Order: sequence, then structure tokens, then C-alpha cells
Amino acid sequence: MTTRINPSILAADFANLERELDRIASADLVHVDVMDNHFVPNLTFGLQMVERLQEVSAIPLDVHLMIDDPDRWAPGYAETGAFSVTFHAEAAADPVALARRLREIGARAGIALKPGTDVEPYLELLPEFDQVLVMTVEPGFGGQSFMPETMPKLQRLRSAVEATGLDVWLQVDGGISLDTIGIAAEAGANTFVAGSAVFGAEVPAERIASLRDAASA
Ligand code: DX5
Ligand code: ZN
Repeated sequence: MTTRINPSILAADFANLERELDRIASADLVHVDVMDNHFVPNLTFGLQMVERLQEVSAIPLDVHLMIDDPDRWAPGYAETGAFSVTFHAEAAADPVALARRLREIGARAGIALKPGTDVEPYLELLPEFDQVLVMTVEPGFGGQSFMPETMPKLQRLRSAVEATGLDVWLQVDGGISLDTIGIAAEAGANTFVAGSAVFGAEVPAERIASLRDAASA
């Protein structure tokens, strides 16, 4: 199975983002956390920042929207040319219509589930999505501890994806490190977001390589 490592720039130096992107040149995608201080109790950046990142990044963007009313805002992020746009199931009024809109614009459509959100209602909707993001911490902040209790959800998704034969990517986000990535891989994840584990390393490129190895072990 293909393993993807997506460093989260939430843990990068915001004053030097272009240089930070160079340090993670071997990453598969750059994970971009948009927070609105409503859906989550933290504020990061918005559309203009993502537009600019899209212009300077050689690595495709994986946008994670932790915002209210994604039905209104998510299409604009897809229009920047982002590779994937993931919105939260808990925030969307019409997830299927929104996913179709994102695909129409040309982005991969992702749906994210907070740790307490049940996966069952979304299993029959899998063909509508290119990616499901299982949050392995409560969204809002980097540097939190991985929640192993979210793993049954991933296992459930993995078997549902296998049953459909679709190539829906299963992403985990939060507390992914050399110690935890194997647990998530074992449960069925193939796309791994890592913020502090990558940018906290002395040589981020080496950490990306070791995370990749640990996921495939
Ligand atoms: C948390 C964000 C994550 C965060 C992960 O709400 O969605 O993408 O950057 O950070 P780490 O890897 O440090 O837990
Ligand atoms: Zn994220």
C-alpha cells in the first residue's frame, strides 16, 4: 500500500514558510490547517494565505478546514488549485453536495471526523469522497497526544473501503510520531499528517523518511 507523509505547517515557522517548504521537499503533500476560532478554539489563516502557499509550493496542498459553514467556504479553497480539500462532517450542512462541488472544481474531496463522531453514517457515502480523515486528537492544536481509541473507526473504514474496491485514502491527523504511526498504519491508515514530529526534528527530511519506514514496517 502506498504510504503518504503530509507534514502539517501548523508546526512550521510562519515567518519563513517558503524556507520551511524546502525542508520538507520529500513530503507527499503539505497539510494546511485552516482554523476559524468557531469550529475549533484556535485561529490560524485563511484563503489568502492558502492562495499564496499554492503559488510557492512545489508540493501539492492538502487543505484541512476546521471551520464552520464549509458549504460556503470550501469551494474557494478548491479554486486555489489545492490538491485536496477536507471539511468536517460535524460542520457541513450537505456533505455530499459539497464533496461533489469540490470534485467538480478539480480538488479531491475529503471528509473529517472528530474523535467522538461515529463513522457508521458515512460508510455508505464512501464513493462520494476521495479521502476520509480520522482525527486522532481533538482538532484545534498541534502537539497533542494520539488517541488510540479512534483506531476501531479506522479499522471499520478500512474494511468498508476494501469492500467497495474504491481507492479512498484514509488519513490520520494528530499525535502521529515514530511511536504511533505504526499503530495507525496497522489499523488501516495510508496517509499520515505529522506536525511536531516533522518540524520538531533537526532534519525534517530524515524524519519524513523514518516515519515512512515506520508506517510500512
Ligand atoms: C490539529 C491539526 C493537525 C496538527 C497536528 O487540529 O489538524 O494537523 O497540525 O499536529 P501534531 O502532528 O503536532 O499533532
Ligand atoms: Zn490537520
